[in-house]
Amino acid sequence: MKKIVFSGVQPTGNLHLGNYLGALKNFVSLQHEAECIYCVVDLHAITTFQDPKTLRSNIFETTAAFIASGIDDSKNIIFNQSSVSGHAELSWILSCVSRMGWLNRMTQFKDKAGKDKEKASVGLYIYPNLMAADILLYKATHVPVGADQKQHLELSRDIAQKFNNDFKVRNFFPIPEPLIPKNISRVMSLRDGTKKMSKSEESDYSRINLSDNPDLISKKIKKAKTDSGNIPDNIKELEKRSEAFNLLNIYSEIVGQKLEKALNEMSGKDFSFLKDKLSEVLVEKICPIGKKMDKLMQDKSHLENIIKKGTEKANIKAEENIKKIREIIGFV
Ligand code: AMP
Ligand code: TRP
Repeated sequence: MKKIVFSGVQPTGNLHLGNYLGALKNFVSLQHEAECIYCVVDLHAITTFQDPKTLRSNIFETTAAFIASGIDDSKNIIFNQSSVSGHAELSWILSCVSRMGWLNRMTQFKDKAGKDKEKASVGLYIYPNLMAADILLYKATHVPVGADQKQHLELSRDIAQKFNNDFKVRNFFPIPEPLIPKNISRVMSLRDGTKKMSKSEESDYSRINLSDNPDLISKKIKKAKTDSGNIPDNIKELEKRSEAFNLLNIYSEIVGQKLEKALNEMSGKDFSFLKDKLSEVLVEKICPIGKKMDKLMQDKSHLENIIKKGTEKANIKAEENIKKIREIIGFV
């Protein structure tokens, strides 16, 4: 079977180090080995209210982040979800395949809806069905995501399987494989090592944004929460100290070293040593991406062209599959 890669990022602003290490970095490396489709998932974004002007700007910003991270738009498909109508259409069809019981188990809905679930949008509840539609619309076989999307991916697999069974079309939808980074699948908040780094966290000091300048990166790392001990000399001990574990994990991932090796370099030292080193490598890695994004954002028509070109290519593939899906279901 041909390897087809699909993934999406929501245009909800504040793209951060977690997005980069959990997703974008892998998007870039996969482009050399497979056909890749990378989508700015604006339909997902509106499951919580988005100011229209901000949404528009964020769609461009996310597109710019794809390019600035190193995705080649001439080799891959980069586009926004709402401009290919197949996503919404297949989402409806798959909502009729997916089960209430399955959606009721989704922990992200529970987290995002908060205490008052009655007030959450219906879209937020059925969001994982749309995600399954994104993937299956292109018959994607591999989906690079951070660990927080694992449960949604499992749901996509269940939906694909049930569709194939219900309509007796064995192997019509491939069962998509998640590609979750092994070493650092969840980058944690700089203020609380038990919470994931997130776009929506109120404190900007909880995350490193791709747009942060060197000064701000150093300030944020200096202020990052740690504990009172020195850096331990073994991973077992390190794992018990969530903030230290997170900082070392980030460091080892950015410099491309095994955690053991990074720990060897740092053990016995105090946190200021690690923080200085970490700031240095983050500035080196992240600031060029931010600068490139900034430059790309100054030429919206160039970004519009990239999206337009990607949309055309995506639409051809989507239409071909949707046609077959309509036939399978029995639509006339
Ligand atoms: P989102 O911003 O929610 O659309 O996420 C885009 C991608 O970044 C998804 O693949 C997420 O799994 C990944 N991601 C988001 N936050 C983190 C994090 N803190 N650590 C690792 N990956 C993340
Ligand atoms: N739900 C994903 C997130 O919040 C984004 C997303 C939407 C996605 N559709 C997708 C990721 C399809 C992978 C494949 O991060």
